[in-house]
Amino acid sequence: MKTINVAVIPGDGIGPEVISEGIKVMKKAAELDGRMRLAFTSFPWGCEYYLKHGKMMADDGMEQLKRFDAIYLGAVGYPGVPDHISLWDLLLRIRKEFDQYVNIRPIKLLNGAPCPIEGGTKETIDMLFIRENSEGEYAGLGEWIFQGKPEELVLQTGVFSRKGTERIIRYAFEEAAKSGRTLTSISKANALNYSMVFWDQVFEEVSRDYPEVQTYSYLVDAAAMLMVKDPSRFEVVVTSNLFGDILTDLGAALAGGMGLAAGANINPEKEWPSMFEPIHGSAPDIAGKGIANPLAAIWSASQMFDFFGCEEAGAMLLDAIETVMEERIVLTPDLGGTASTSDVGDRIVEILCQRQKAGSFY
Ligand code: NAI
Ligand code: MG
Repeated sequence: MKTINVAVIPGDGIGPEVISEGIKVMKKAAELDGRMRLAFTSFPWGCEYYLKHGKMMADDGMEQLKRFDAIYLGAVGYPGVPDHISLWDLLLRIRKEFDQYVNIRPIKLLNGAPCPIEGGTKETIDMLFIRENSEGEYAGLGEWIFQGKPEELVLQTGVFSRKGTERIIRYAFEEAAKSGRTLTSISKANALNYSMVFWDQVFEEVSRDYPEVQTYSYLVDAAAMLMVKDPSRFEVVVTSNLFGDILTDLGAALAGGMGLAAGANINPEKEWPSMFEPIHGSAPDIAGKGIANPLAAIWSASQMFDFFGCEEAGAMLLDAIETVMEERIVLTPDLGGTASTSDVGDRIVEILCQRQKAGSFY
């Protein structure tokens, strides 16, 4: 039986609330599946830890995390700690030092999920965003000179290496080829005359190795418009760090809102742990009330199962999420219901058990 060692960083605000439902559900799914064992170890890092210790994680935090197969993260960030500290010292540090260069965000409208556009259906909104996650506009390089003077000047440098650009594009081609889907590259070569001209060139080069994959290329502004006007054009999508960040929030809105949006930060070579997280933040406005929607966190658990080759358990979790949406009985307030966070987790567990009794848990 395979054991997956998971480091859990619940983090701040609603992070711990949704993560405990994710763990509850994963444990049940693993038990019903019977072919994997999950071991969870929790770490108290985040903004509360920062306020006590002056740092976001323990000094040897990265060393400790290295031993794990995966990291399951809630959310980090809270009023009182500047966002650039909470983001750079924990989340981005893990993504970078563990070379989690692929960010995968499914944008899939499940049956029963609310969609703000006319004609949005499960068939028309089904995209897989593959976002570059290690460099690009979020490389953290730049200059800030003449601070406070009239000639003050700020440079934020985008970094696009051949290695970094090629590996993400190749990953996306592999994904498209494997699943027989089209691949769309989103860039902005008309305005970003170095980085995005280069991006387009690499996309063109790599595409020659995949003659079977139908490709499209859009400018990011046009892509934003088309995602709303004609989302069925997009199947597998590859884009840079910044564009991916923005477009996947648009995608989250198309596919039911932040309470349903999941993301995985992958080191495909499995040299380092990969990290799975809901893409929403710590939601200080609703934290502590027990009403956060745990479905995004549960969806990211399903991505974790997929990544470790337990695709059947992953599909079963996604199916249970869809059932909850279709039933419309146990939903949190963001989806128009009155249920609590743990009610939703409990309902997912019940659905998994019912599936098993009915013999349909594969
Ligand atoms: P947010 O995602 O925390 O909240 C945005 C809105 O969506 C709020 O109205 C919130 O109540 C709602 N919402 C989010 N997740 C929800 C859920 N599961 N169920 C129901 N409603 C939900 O984004 P915001 O307010 O911009 O950021 C709050 C803090 O979180 C900041 O400190 C920010 O830096 C941090 N953050 C952290 C992220 C991470 O850890 N990956 C990602 C985004 C923000
Ligand atoms: Mg974002």
